[in-house]
Amino acid sequence: MKICQEIDDWKAIKETLPKDKTLGVVMTMGALHSGHASLIKQSQKDNDYTLVSIFINPTQFNDKKDFDHYPNTWESDIQLLKSLNVDFVLSPHKEALYHDNYHYQINEKHFSHILCGRARPGHFDGVLTIVMKLLLISGATRAYFGEKDYQQYQLIKKMAEAFFVPTKIISCPTVREKTGLALSSRNLRLNNQAKEKAIRFAHIIQTHHCLTDAITQLEKENIQIDYLEEHNQRRYAAVFIDGIRLIDNFPISEIHMTQDKEPS
Ligand code: PAJ
Repeated sequence: MKICQEIDDWKAIKETLPKDKTLGVVMTMGALHSGHASLIKQSQKDNDYTLVSIFINPTQFNDKKDFDHYPNTWESDIQLLKSLNVDFVLSPHKEALYHDNYHYQINEKHFSHILCGRARPGHFDGVLTIVMKLLLISGATRAYFGEKDYQQYQLIKKMAEAFFVPTKIISCPTVREKTGLALSSRNLRLNNQAKEKAIRFAHIIQTHHCLTDAITQLEKENIQIDYLEEHNQRRYAAVFIDGIRLIDNFPISEIHMTQDKEPS
């Protein structure tokens, strides 16, 4: 597995790859888990080579504290990527990716201003800008994004269409624990009690057909809601648990009417 910290090193490797071979890219901010691994496995199925980028992108954090606390697990990330037989890792320095001091940005004017974009001003500008940079640097045939961040995936897909980016944008299903909680790098920051609450959050939003009932139940269990909304047959939710922001979403058709159990 070749690890490049310089963009030029990656470009030199890319030059040596046969032109008729395909390359998949999986972009991450590290703190890797089985959700990231599922994207990597899909890329390996579809392509001759897979590149994984690791970069904790400062411009997408509207809250500095959130950025400062974002987990950095470089050693175990590299071990995981080696065990998955990833071909290349790209982890550039901030100064190299933002040599323009972030003077050039990509803005989307509609969908990026609701849901996660409402509470996190500038968040999607940061996401779209870094994803565009990494798409162009990677030169990948296909890029893989998780449905866990469905709004992000939609915005990236539409951006690629708007700018005629040749890379195909592909979505992969959300990977969940058996409890129903979506895997997230942020789960690492939850203590046992907060983890229980997070599981309740996932359960409540997946089992209450009626939005108002779901809101009432979340409030009853002292789970602070950022948003819980439905758009285009999909339910989107964000909450704060012990100050940690968790998000989730799924198609409305997947809401199952199990008998909701009160927590013990
Ligand atoms: P990060 O949160 O590290 O996620 C990297 C990719 O993994 C994203 O496409 C995300 O949707 C996917 N992912 C995370 N958890 C998942 C899960 N439980 N199941 C399936 N896929 C999952 O998303 C980002 O980083 C950044 O915004 C990035 C796109 C890298 C730009 O900085």
